[in-house]
Amino acid sequence: MIALHIEKSFGTVSKENVAAYEARVMAAQKMLEEGTGAGNDFLGWLHLPSSITPEHLADLNATAQTLRENCEVVIVAGIGGSYLGARAVIEALSNSFAWLQTEKKSPVIIFAGHNIGEDYLYELTEYLKGKKFGVINISKSGTTTETALAFRLLKKQCETQRGKEMARKVIVAITDAVKGAARVTADKEGYKTFVIPDNVGGRFSVLTPVGLLPIAVAGFDIVKLVAGAAGMEQVCGIDKPFCENPAALYAATRNELYKSGKKIEILVNFNPKLHYVGEWWKQLYGESEGKDHKGIFPAAVDFSTDLHSMGQWIQDGERTIYETVISVEQPNHKLEIPTDEANLDGLNFLAGKRVDQVNKMAELGTQLAHVDGGVPNMRVVISALDEENIGGLLYFFEKACGISGYLLEVNPFNQPGVEAYKKNMFALLDKPGYEAESKAIRARL
Ligand code: PA5
Repeated sequence: MIALHIEKSFGTVSKENVAAYEARVMAAQKMLEEGTGAGNDFLGWLHLPSSITPEHLADLNATAQTLRENCEVVIVAGIGGSYLGARAVIEALSNSFAWLQTEKKSPVIIFAGHNIGEDYLYELTEYLKGKKFGVINISKSGTTTETALAFRLLKKQCETQRGKEMARKVIVAITDAVKGAARVTADKEGYKTFVIPDNVGGRFSVLTPVGLLPIAVAGFDIVKLVAGAAGMEQVCGIDKPFCENPAALYAATRNELYKSGKKIEILVNFNPKLHYVGEWWKQLYGESEGKDHKGIFPAAVDFSTDLHSMGQWIQDGERTIYETVISVEQPNHKLEIPTDEANLDGLNFLAGKRVDQVNKMAELGTQLAHVDGGVPNMRVVISALDEENIGGLLYFFEKACGISGYLLEVNPFNQPGVEAYKKNMFALLDKPGYEAESKAIRARL
């Protein structure tokens, strides 16, 4: 369950103006429900949590078990929406030092296919030498260069090291049902495959096998994750009153803040495990809303770490920002600050307190300071970092994003701008079919 607090943005926007969004938010929700808005062929995420069957989850868990039993390392290859959701959940739920522990309960999960770093790929292939590793190859189009490049290297190494038969067992493809190179390869090689539904776009796909399989391989409970999302699907449902629907209120408040000149939203966490939730959220909102020369710029920071780097700008820089803080009520572990007789560090005033009490006062103190400095603040509170809460949080942001995009009057479900760099890159690399573009781009150099 989450609680949304928007009161600390009321210095900049008024409660009445936010409340005035009720009719427009309802219209946006209707467009989502009835499929009458732009991008209506990509609404498969809307009721996805409640439609996932126990059989589908069991199939995912069985495949995860095969990988867990046969691999000490699993490489998850994917980029953008085929990468960030799994990483966000796995990092939020994992022990921060799990990969350094000698006694491992789950395979080490490594991400690849999300960059074109030669050193990164070289070092990865070196690290994998002699290791029992498997690969989850994730690409909806099945043609994304970054992912395909990494997979070509990993497939070859896996087959060489583990033999063709074992490679067939420990390589899984998550891709389109019929088209794309990843599908062709998987069918030819006889890999186990999962389908990314046509009507679910990459950045909304964390609750499809794209996110669920890697999360299950990492040892987390996907049944609970989906249950948390399904609970949030109800909480944010169209039948819920505007003032009780957190997705509706969040979408309305951020649009009103944008209208008042706050062009940048900073997603803040006070828990380093949430770093990749920030990265996932940036993609969700950036790709959904940044178009037609409009859109809130989504940024993310990790506090208190970044208070010592970005804190000055946020407190005192250009006043075009607001913050949305993800606050976790209870840590999963207890650690008390010890007394020290000599008290050389002067910290005995904290002795006996939990580390989280200090963190919470940093959070409260920061909120008050930033609000005083002209930075409106919203808080999204979850009770703990566990599967149910994370599932709910992800769905909350997805639903709010759909509503918010329609309030902004953009198509939240396409990403035409992402193609521009690809076109130039293919032209510069002389990809077959890009002859005219190659000629034209070389003339510009
Ligand atoms: O959200 C999106 O659609 C994109 O970020 C894609 O997920 C990303 O470009 C990867 O695409 P694909 O899954 O086709 O390899």
